[in-house]
Amino acid sequence: MTSVEPAEKLLSPVLSASWDDTRPWTLDTYLRHDGYRGLRNALAMAPDDLIALVKDSGLRGRGGAGFPTGMKWQFIPQNDGKPHYLVVNADESEPGTCKDIPLLFANPHSLIEGMIIASYAIRCDHAFIYLRGEVVPVLRRLHAAVAEAYEAGYLGKNILGSGIDLDITVHAGAGAYICGEETALLDSLEGRRGQPRLRPPFPAIAGLYACPTVVNNVESIASVPPILARGNEWFKSLGTEKSPGFTLYSLSGHVTNPGQYEAPLGITLRQLLDISGGVRAGHRLKFWTPGGSSTPMFTDQHLDVPLDYEGVGAAGSMLGTKALQIFDETTCVVRAVTRWTEFYAHESCGKCTPCREGTYWLVQLLKRIESGQGLAGDLEKLLDIADNINGKSFCALGDGAASPIVSSLEHFRAEYEQHLSERRCPFDPAASTVWADRRAHESTTEREVHA
Ligand SMILES: Cc1cc2nc3c(=O)[nH]c(=O)nc-3n(C[C@H](O)[C@H](O)[C@H](O)COP(=O)(O)O)c2cc1C
Ligand code: SF4
Repeated sequence: MTSVEPAEKLLSPVLSASWDDTRPWTLDTYLRHDGYRGLRNALAMAPDDLIALVKDSGLRGRGGAGFPTGMKWQFIPQNDGKPHYLVVNADESEPGTCKDIPLLFANPHSLIEGMIIASYAIRCDHAFIYLRGEVVPVLRRLHAAVAEAYEAGYLGKNILGSGIDLDITVHAGAGAYICGEETALLDSLEGRRGQPRLRPPFPAIAGLYACPTVVNNVESIASVPPILARGNEWFKSLGTEKSPGFTLYSLSGHVTNPGQYEAPLGITLRQLLDISGGVRAGHRLKFWTPGGSSTPMFTDQHLDVPLDYEGVGAAGSMLGTKALQIFDETTCVVRAVTRWTEFYAHESCGKCTPCREGTYWLVQLLKRIESGQGLAGDLEKLLDIADNINGKSFCALGDGAASPIVSSLEHFRAEYEQHLSERRCPFDPAASTVWADRRAHESTTEREVHA
């Protein structure tokens, strides 16, 4: 893959191939696109051979960490006499991440087919989809697609005459980012407040209802049917050696044509910008995230980093959810980081002190720096708090909150210092007045509360 190839040749639409069809979400359209062929191939195999095939494909989890999917399935103990569960993580809510929801909206059968294959492999007869509750149109689509699949004999008893049974329950969460963390998700699914669990035991041993459970991302599971339909050789012909296959990149922010672009792993941002019309007219790239707000930010120095797990890791960040948020030179980095940090402070579940307290204090510091009210030593304080969160919190939400602070200070320390020395936001001097007004109001309210 080189940048001289025509832009469209760099894309590899598989999961998104039918998105422009009329009514792509229906079973009829899915079948026209070879749907449920992978399932028929899978049912002709023994479950252990199926796991071995997915392991050999090199498919890695698309939920953020890139853990090998086949290996995760292999961890499920067999012949243990317990029910096994498959839980699909459709709680997508990281700022910038926007792939699972569009995929489910346009092509829900790709997930259902993948779930039947995965359930057969791990010997599970009841699987769950944990969907972010706010996306009601997607919830309706999923319910309709599951009903279609039951009607057509792909779900329920004796699927396609194979003797295999599977029920799928679609569960809508109540809208909490932490419920995307797999153990918090399991607690929430069981009816408890969604907070991460102590590990070990890992979900593969004691997950949903204390039974062996596989938790996989929507895109990971939806990627399985094409592998079964077209084979490992085809899958490995895409992407890079250690990160094979196709994947959905979401481009958002200051880009001419934002959206989802399905391409082989290892494509670069420079190539994706070529395809998507570039940074908006008259502007230039300032910074971007390779995998959502919790992954260390990159700058225009990183345009040629291969967007696969190894390439992004070697350049000092993480591929995460492949959420490429693009910011041009008009963006105040302090403001962007403040908004993200407000998100993390709001979504912190409160279970552990470094994240619960630290994210609150980070917001206070960032707001005063952004508005030009920062004090000498504030940048060291920011780094100190971030250091006390990173790696010292109970779950990865804390690490994600620290990441934009540390990386923005690494790349844009001068811009933070400019806020301190000029005592205003160089991008938006009005922000100072707004914040000063807000502080005056808040301190009056605080005084009233304490009176
Ligand atoms: C705060 C937080 C939020 C997360 N949100 C999601 C999410 O919305 N969807 C998802 O698939 N994984 C999410 N994850 C990662 C999951 O814990 C888990 O690793 C993933 O579902 C595994 O799927 P995969 O192996 O198919 O990638 C989140 C993790 C953290 C720490
Ligand atoms: S790091 Fe944050 S979200 Fe995770 S357990 Fe601690 S308080 Fe909760």
